[in-house]
Amino acid sequence: MECVAFISQKGGSAKTTSLISVSVAAARMERAGVLILDTDIAQGSALAWRGRRNAPWPVVEACRLADVDRRLRRARDEGFDLVFVDTAGRDDPALTGLIACSDFVAVPCRPTVLDRDAIAPNVWSCRRAGVAFGVLLTCVKANTEARVQQIRDYHRRSGGCVLDAQLSDRVRYQSAIASGLSVSEMSGDPELADEPKVAWRAIRRRLAQTAGA
Ligand SMILES: Nc1ncnc2c1ncn2[C@@H]1O[C@H](COP(=O)(O)OP(=O)(O)O)[C@@H](O)[C@H]1O
Ligand SMILES: [Mg+2]
Repeated sequence: MECVAFISQKGGSAKTTSLISVSVAAARMERAGVLILDTDIAQGSALAWRGRRNAPWPVVEACRLADVDRRLRRARDEGFDLVFVDTAGRDDPALTGLIACSDFVAVPCRPTVLDRDAIAPNVWSCRRAGVAFGVLLTCVKANTEARVQQIRDYHRRSGGCVLDAQLSDRVRYQSAIASGLSVSEMSGDPELADEPKVAWRAIRRRLAQTAGA
């Protein structure tokens, strides 16, 4: 069983939206039993999404950040393959504990200078803990390739690994969440539907590297 946490202290960086898309892609691509732990109990966005969803998977539960470690141990016994942990957009000392029990940390980040700078403490926490991590560029607007490349280059130069994937800024992501779906489950735009799959493949590669290290 592997644990993938989505962490960014910047609110509105698309943690929940990206986590839902990527976890549904992972469940489908690996035929995996997926558990989502929603530790943003005040907002409960992932839990609310589950309430709007018709499919019986993935399982979504509310969980206090401090209880994730214990819940992970039970999840292993229950036969889950992958656990995704959604977090609130604020600095919380308990995030250190979550990072320590994660196999990979995805750091969602919009491609702007303000967002880029806001995630620096999260990147440092992962580096300090020696946990594999990757910045996942989200809400990427059309025709902004040069600016996005600058943000990628900055993260790389400053020791922040950037995933070879990105999620576009598209209303379809919002519509999917509103309907209890992932963007890959909506028909009509195969290119967009592919984005979370590409992101999961990039995370899977990093997990494989870590396991082999
Ligand atoms: N790829 C996307 N395209 C368009 N809007 C998005 C995308 N991802 C997130 N959003 C929107 O951005 C806002 C913040 O997203 P959310 O997933 O709630 O972020 P967080 O969990 O980090 O607070 C929401 O209004 C959401 O609908
Ligand atoms: Mg959220």
